[in-house]
Amino acid sequence: MTAKPKVWVSRPLFPDVLARLAEYFDVDAEAVERRHTADELKNKLAGVDAALVGLADRIDATVLEGNTRLKMVANLGVGFNNLDLDTLTRHGILASNTPDVLTESVADFAWALMLAAARRVGASERWLRAGHWPGSNQRFDDWLGLDVHGRTLGILGMGRIGQGIARRAAGFDMNVLYHNRSRLPEMLERECKATLVGKDELLRRADFLVLVLPFTPENHHAIGAPELARMKRSAVLVNIARGGIVDDAALAAALREGTLAAAGLDVFEGEPQVHPDLLALDNVVLSPHIASASEETRRAMANLAADNVIAALGFGEAAGNPPTPLNPAVLARWSAHKA
Ligand code: GLV
Repeated sequence: MTAKPKVWVSRPLFPDVLARLAEYFDVDAEAVERRHTADELKNKLAGVDAALVGLADRIDATVLEGNTRLKMVANLGVGFNNLDLDTLTRHGILASNTPDVLTESVADFAWALMLAAARRVGASERWLRAGHWPGSNQRFDDWLGLDVHGRTLGILGMGRIGQGIARRAAGFDMNVLYHNRSRLPEMLERECKATLVGKDELLRRADFLVLVLPFTPENHHAIGAPELARMKRSAVLVNIARGGIVDDAALAAALREGTLAAAGLDVFEGEPQVHPDLLALDNVVLSPHIASASEETRRAMANLAADNVIAALGFGEAAGNPPTPLNPAVLARWSAHKA
C-alpha cells in the first residue's frame, strides 16, 4: 500500500473537516492557535504535499526555498496578500482561497460596524457595564449618535462583498456611491443601486465609507492623512479589508481631533497588535478580524479549503478540478506533465 499524501493544517480547525481530510491524507493539524516563524513554516512545508494555511502565515520565496515536495497551499480566507503568488506559481505550487462562501457574512459584518460606530454601541455598552447607569442622571441628550438611514454610503472596492454591502443599503434608504478599478456591468449597478464616482468625490461625499479593496502594494495607505482630510467631519470610516490600507496612526489622530466622527475596524496595521492610540479612543469600534466568523461561514471556508486540497491532489469527485484555484496555470502545467 502506498503511503497517503501528507497535509499540514496550520491552525486548529473543525474536527469534522479534519476528519474529511484524514480520509485521504496523513494529517498533521496544529492543536493550538499561534504564529509560526518563517523557519517553522519552511520546515513544516518541506515535509508535506499540501497545507491549509491562515492569513498570518506568509508563504514566500524564503519559506519555499529548496522545497521540492509541496504541491498545494489552500488559504483559509478570500484575501491572499499573505501568499506570494508569483513565487508559488514559479515553484509549480497551486494556491487556492475561499471566495463566495463568505461574501454575505462579511457584508453583514460591515453593517454591524457601521451601525455600531454610528450609534455608539461599544462605548455605551462599556459605560453600562462599568455600572454607570443605575442611579445616574442620564440626560435626554446623552449618547447621541449619527443616523445611518437616508445617508450616503461610499464603497471603496466593489467586488462581491462591496456589492453585498450595497444591496443591503436599500433597506436603509441610502444613496450608494462606489469607486472601483473598473465599472460594474450596468445590470449589477442597477441591482446594487450604486453610482460610480472618482475616489476624490467618494471621499468628499460619503457619510459612511466602507473599505473592501484587496491589499496590494498600491493600496498601502490608500486612506492616509490626506484622504482623511477630504472626508466630512461627520463621516464614519469602516475597514473590513486589510490592515495597512488605512494609516492607523493618521486615523487615530483624525478621530481624536474630531476631524472624523467615528470608525469601525475589523483589521489593523500589524495585527494582532492594535495601534495604542486607537485603543484609547471611544469613537472607534474594534473587532479582532472576525468579519467572516459566523458558524456557517467559517465551516464553509474550512470545507472549501479542504475541497481544494482533496481535488488538487487527485481525490474525491472533483479530482483534478479544485473549485477555487488562484493560479490555475499551475494545473495546466501539471496536466501537460502527465500527458
Ligand atoms: C479575511 O480577511 C479573508 O480574507 O477571508
